[in-house]
Amino acid sequence: MGWFSFLFLIFLNCLLLLSHADDQKPSSNSPIVSSSPSAYRPPDSYLLDCGSSTETKLDDGRTFKSDPQSSSYLSTGEDIKASVDSISSSAFSNSTPSSMQDLYKTARIFTSESTYTFFISKPGKHWVRLYFLPVHHPQYDLKSAVFTVHTGKFVLLHDFSVPDDKKAVFKEYIVNATEPFSLIFKPKKDSRAFINAIEVVSIPDELLSDSASSIPQGNFVNGMSNYAIEVAYRLNMGGPTLSPKNDTLSRTWVPDTPYNVFPQGAQVVTGSDIKYRPGQGMTRLIAPDLVYATAERMTTESYAQTMAPNFNLTWVMNVDASFSYLIRMHFCDIVSKSLNNLYFNVYINGFMGVSGLDLSTKTGVLAGAYYIDFVLNATTITNGSIMVQVGPTSDSGLPNAILNGLEVMKLSNKADSLDGLFAADGSFKGGYGKMKILAYSGLGMASLAMLLLGVVLVRWHKRPHDWQRRNSFSSWLLPFPSSDSSFLSSKMFGSKKSKSGYSSFYSNQGLGKFFTFNELQSATQNFDENAVIGVGGFGKVYIGTLEDGTKVAIKRGNQGSEQGINEFQTEIQMLSKLRHRHLVSLIGFCDENSEMILVYEFMTNGPLRDHLYGANKPTLSWKQRLDICIGAARGLHYLHTGAAQGIIHRDVKTTNILLDENFVAKVADFGLSKAAAMEQGHVSTAVKGSFGYLDPEYFRRQQLTEKSDVYSFGVVLFEVLCARAVICPNLPREQVSLAEWAMQWHRKGMIQNIVDPKIAGSINGESLKKFAEAAEKCLGEYGVDRPSMGDVLWNLEYSLQLQEASSQIDQPEDKSKLILLEEAQASDNDPKASPAVLASASDDSEITIAGSELHFPPMGNIQGR
Ligand SMILES: *[C@@H]1O[C@H](CO)[C@@H](O)[C@H](O)[C@H]1NC(C)=O
Ligand SMILES: *[C@@H]1O[C@H](CO)[C@@H](O)[C@H](O)[C@H]1NC(C)=O
Ligand SMILES: *[C@@H]1O[C@H](CO)[C@@H](O)[C@H](O)[C@H]1NC(C)=O
Ligand SMILES: *[C@@H]1O[C@H](CO)[C@@H](O)[C@H](O)[C@H]1NC(C)=O
Ligand SMILES: *[C@@H]1O[C@H](CO)[C@@H](O)[C@H](O)[C@H]1NC(C)=O
Repeated sequence: MGWFSFLFLIFLNCLLLLSHADDQKPSSNSPIVSSSPSAYRPPDSYLLDCGSSTETKLDDGRTFKSDPQSSSYLSTGEDIKASVDSISSSAFSNSTPSSMQDLYKTARIFTSESTYTFFISKPGKHWVRLYFLPVHHPQYDLKSAVFTVHTGKFVLLHDFSVPDDKKAVFKEYIVNATEPFSLIFKPKKDSRAFINAIEVVSIPDELLSDSASSIPQGNFVNGMSNYAIEVAYRLNMGGPTLSPKNDTLSRTWVPDTPYNVFPQGAQVVTGSDIKYRPGQGMTRLIAPDLVYATAERMTTESYAQTMAPNFNLTWVMNVDASFSYLIRMHFCDIVSKSLNNLYFNVYINGFMGVSGLDLSTKTGVLAGAYYIDFVLNATTITNGSIMVQVGPTSDSGLPNAILNGLEVMKLSNKADSLDGLFAADGSFKGGYGKMKILAYSGLGMASLAMLLLGVVLVRWHKRPHDWQRRNSFSSWLLPFPSSDSSFLSSKMFGSKKSKSGYSSFYSNQGLGKFFTFNELQSATQNFDENAVIGVGGFGKVYIGTLEDGTKVAIKRGNQGSEQGINEFQTEIQMLSKLRHRHLVSLIGFCDENSEMILVYEFMTNGPLRDHLYGANKPTLSWKQRLDICIGAARGLHYLHTGAAQGIIHRDVKTTNILLDENFVAKVADFGLSKAAAMEQGHVSTAVKGSFGYLDPEYFRRQQLTEKSDVYSFGVVLFEVLCARAVICPNLPREQVSLAEWAMQWHRKGMIQNIVDPKIAGSINGESLKKFAEAAEKCLGEYGVDRPSMGDVLWNLEYSLQLQEASSQIDQPEDKSKLILLEEAQASDNDPKASPAVLASASDDSEITIAGSELHFPPMGNIQGR
C-alpha cells in the first residue's frame, strides 16, 4: 500500500467518523426481525451469596453459590460471616423481588484488604452487581463500616458506608473485565468491609456502543468503552416494574412516575409485536420487548383544548454533578397508525439532543425498536439533576412525542473512579493534572492528527503559486469523497490536471464558493450576537461582510442537530440545481469543523413580513405589494416547473420571502423542500411547515403536492392584503385564523372591509377583486381545485395591470398592454395557453439549471424525512 493510499484511507476514516451519526443506527435495508423471547447465555457468570452456608435459588432461575462453594475465588481475607434470619420488608424498594431479598440475609466481613479473583473466559464488558445490607454481627458493627471497592483499575466505591443502616443498597456497574478480574474490598483504617452478594456476569458486546452524541456540543464522541459505568436509573416509561425475571440480562426496570415532573401532559400507551432490525446496533438484548411495548406520549386532550400545544414531556433525575453521564433513550413508535406521522425534539438539560427525530426513517417500520445514546458532560449538569425532555418541533403538524425507556449511567472520571477523585492505587487525582481518560481516547486522535498534518505539509509544499488569490486555502486542501475514486485520487494528491482545485468543482455544481470557518468568523466578528438577523429551526442567521466588502447573510446550523444536517444537505442540493432572479442565491458554504454554514446574498430589506406589520417600516404601496407577490409567485412557479423534477418548497410564508435593496422579492429557505416524485404526483411525508400556512389537505392526508405551496401562498396573499398575522390567538374565535377570516369576508363580497387601512383608499376595486379571487382559489379545500402557480401568477399580473391602468389611465402604452392581456385572458380557456403568455411577459430568461448530480461530503446520509 502506497503512502498516499494510506493517507487516503485515513481520510476516509475521518469522513466515516463525521458520518457516524447516521451510520450507527439500523439501516433501512436490513430485514426486519419480529420479537420473540430470546435468552442470553453469558460466557462468564459468577453469582455469589456471600456468607451463606447454602446456595440460594432465585425465582428468576438463577442460583447464587454458597460461601463454601465460592471460597476459592477469595484469594485473601479471613473467614468472618454474619447472618440474620429475617429482614424487615421495609429495607427493600418495591422493585426488589422477594426471592432476591434472601441474598441480603448473610454477609462476609473483611477486616483487612481482601480480593475476589475471577477467571474471565471472554474478556470484555461485565456486569458487576453488589448487594449490601449491614446485618447484625456480635463483634463487628457493619452499620459504621467504611470501605473502598475497586477492580485494580476502576474505583467503584470510595470510603463507602451505607447511607441508611436499615435499607438495602444495590449497586450495578459495567466494567471491562480482563483475565484475571479482581474485586478488592479495602476497609478504611480501623474499620471493616462487608458484602452480602456479588454478581460478575458477561454482557453481550452489542449492548454498549463505543460512541454517543455529546450534549451540548452535538458531535459524536468515541471512547465510551474506556469508561467504567455505574447504572443510576433504568426506567420503563408507562410500564410496570420489570424484574430480572422479565429481562434475560437480569436487569431491573422501574416505572417512570416518580421522575415525571409533568404527569398531566403524559398519557400511557401500550403496543405489541415490537420489531427489531438486526445488525448495526439494534438487537433484542438492548431492552426487553416489555420496555418498548409501553410508552408515555403527549396527552391528546390538551391538544384539543389549546390547538397549538406547547409543552414537553419532562423527567428529572438527581445525579452527582461532578460526573459525566451516558443517557440512553429508548423509542418505539407504538402510537402511530401509519409511518411518517411522528416526529419530535429531544432535549437533555435544556440542550437540543435530536431535532425533529423521525422514528419512521430510523426503523422503517411501525413498532420498530430504536435507541439513542447521549453523553452529558459534567460541566452542563448545573443543578445536580438530569432533565430529559421530548416535545413538539416548532413546525409540528400533529404535535406528539413519546419515550419508551430511559437509562442514566454514570461514567468514570479522570481518576478512573465512579466515586470521588481517588484512583485505585489510592492517589488523589484532583487538581490540574492532565486528564487520563482524555489521554486514552486522545491517543488515537493525536496520531491521526499527525498524519493529517503530514498531508497538509505535503499539500502545502505542492500548493499552487497563486493560492492566495484563490478562493480559500481549504478549497484546494480539503478533499471530499466521491463515488469516483479516480477523481478523488487525482484531485486530492495533486496531479497536474487537478490545479483547478475544489472551489471550481463546487462552483461548477452551482455551489459557489467554499469558505473557511475563519473567513466567516471574521466576516461576522466571531458570530457576534449583534450580527444576528434571524433565528430559525436550523440555527441563526448573521449579517456579515466579506473581505471584499460584499454584504452576505450567513446561516449557521446548530451543531449536531439532525434536522440541521438534513436541511443543510437539502438546501445545498436544491440551490445547486436552481438559479432564478426570484430565488435567493447561495454564494457559498463552509463545512469545516463539523460546522454547517451557508452563505447567501444579503437581502437588504429583509423579510416581507417586516414591511407588512409589527416592525414599524414605511408602508408598502399596493403596487409594490403586487410586484412583490408577483416576484414570489414567479420564484415558486419556477420551483414547481423549472427544475427537472419539480420542487415543493413546503414552507411558503412571508418570513421566507425576502426583499433586496430594490424591493425585488426572492423566495428563501429551502431546508424543507422536497423534490416531487412526479410519477405519483405527490410525496408522502410527515407534515412539516408553519402553523397558519399549512394546507389542510396535506395535514389530513400527509400527501404533499405543489398545491400545498399554492395554499400557503394564498395565505401569504391575504396577509399582504390585510397586513395582519396569519394566527392571532388573542382575537375572537372566528378571527384567529387569517385564512378562515378572509375567506368569510370574501364570500360575503366584502373583502374591502378587511384590507390594510393604510392602503385601502389607493386600491383600484377591480385590481382588488382579481387579487382576492386569486387568493381565494389558492385556499381551495382540495388541491385539485386550486390553480397552478402559473395561473396564480397570471392573475396577479392581471391585477397589477388593472391597478396601473386605473392610476395612469391616460398613458396609452399601458392601456395597450392591458388590452393585450385581456385578449390573452379571453383566449385562456385552454389552461395551456397561460404559460405561453407568461413566458413572453416574464423575465425568466435568467433561468439556468446548473449541474447534474451533486457529490457532497457525507455529513450524514442525505435522507428525506
Ligand atoms: C477491554 O479492554 C481491552 C484492553 O484494555 C480492550 O482491548 C478491549 O477492546 C476492551 N473491551 C471492551 C468491550 O471495551
Ligand atoms: C414478568 O415476569 C413474571 C414471571 O414470569 C410475570 O409474572 C410478569 O407478568 C412479567 N411482567 C410483565 C410486565 O410481563
Ligand atoms: C421544550 O424544552 C426545551 C428545552 O428545555 C425548550 O427550549 C422548549 O421551548 C420547550 N418546548 C416547549 C413547547 O415548551
Ligand atoms: C467534558 O468536557 C470537557 C471540557 O470540554 C472535556 O475535556 C471532557 O472530555 C468532557 N467529558 C466527556 C465525558 O465528554
Ligand atoms: C435549580 O434548582 C432550583 C431549586 O430546586 C430551581 O428553582 C431552579 O429552577 C433550578 N435551575 C435549573 C436551571 O434547573
